[in-house]
Amino acid sequence: MSYVNVSISLSFCKYILLNQFLRLISEAVNMQIESEVLMPMTLITKEDYLEFMSNKKYVTIGNLTIPLEKKHIQKLEPDNYKIESTTIWSFPDRGYWSTHKGDYRGNWSPYIPRNLIMRYTKAGDIVLDQMMGSGTTLVECKLLGRNGIGVDINYDAVMLAQNRLDFEYKDSNVNTYHGDARNLDKIEDESIDLIATHPPYAGIIQYSNRKNRADLSSLSIKEYLQEMYKVSQESFRVLKKGKYCAILIGDTRRHKHYIPITHNIMHIFLEAGFILKEYIIKVQHNMKTTREIWKGNYDFYKIAHEHLLVFRKPESGEKVRRLAYSSDLL
Ligand SMILES: C[S@@+](CC[C@H](N)C(=O)[O-])C[C@H]1O[C@@H](n2cnc3c(N)ncnc32)[C@H](O)[C@@H]1O
Repeated sequence: MSYVNVSISLSFCKYILLNQFLRLISEAVNMQIESEVLMPMTLITKEDYLEFMSNKKYVTIGNLTIPLEKKHIQKLEPDNYKIESTTIWSFPDRGYWSTHKGDYRGNWSPYIPRNLIMRYTKAGDIVLDQMMGSGTTLVECKLLGRNGIGVDINYDAVMLAQNRLDFEYKDSNVNTYHGDARNLDKIEDESIDLIATHPPYAGIIQYSNRKNRADLSSLSIKEYLQEMYKVSQESFRVLKKGKYCAILIGDTRRHKHYIPITHNIMHIFLEAGFILKEYIIKVQHNMKTTREIWKGNYDFYKIAHEHLLVFRKPESGEKVRRLAYSSDLL
């Protein structure tokens, strides 16, 4: 094929992709106009947590009951921690220092936020996890002397995060909110130094019952992508210029064919204005999801990795054209 043919084909693919995105995004914008008012952020304090604990000693997340008990802490730091230096991350020992536990479905290994916080922030910076789940990112903020803001749509998850933050350590400023990642109304424009978050991968794991449409894990893949566009816009709004936004995302299969959720999420975040800084493969160990229900003969490979996308918000007046291949401006 000649150079001209290749470039015409590429332009055509680009045209199709662009059209698909414009359709997705215009549907998202229309939906926002007609749709529900998004939940505002409500600060949930230690007192709220203690009151909750006085009546209840567990939380229910999806179909899982998790006790709210105080973990006996054996160590506050990982042994022999070394910052990651390549684009493949693998943590066979997921990390059990401090109050970290692996009992929240789909929670990320604390090595991931630790690496992101150490590489992209300094002491006193503000880190946001707007889908904090059991609060892994916030525990790392507390241990590493960063200010943390955590948000989750599921009240029980916020209680669990409070439970995981319930240990004595140096003074830190870590706040939890019940709220919606699509509406970070209590966070000022350009006030955050790092976003480190791990959204649901559409409905692969469900965190609340399907009727809670604000929970992105209760949506179809198409609806999920539309709502993630709103998450990308809010992320762009609250992040300081020149700072980083890291999203861990996985893919799935339907009818035995691969669905590249990550690929769509990447385009959505580029469309919001971010530039792709890193594309990291995170090896998965001990998967408890439907990804491993396949036993015996099957004609495809089990998905055993996730993607950690690290985006950068451009500086004011930055010439992003020179980064066209990393920013979808082709
Ligand atoms: C993969 S989990 C996060 C796990 C977390 N990183 C941890 O280590 O525990 C995804 C979280 O997103 C939350 N979520 C779903 N929809 C949301 C929304 N619209 N706004 C905020 N959180 C949401 C779910 O309740 C769930 O806790």
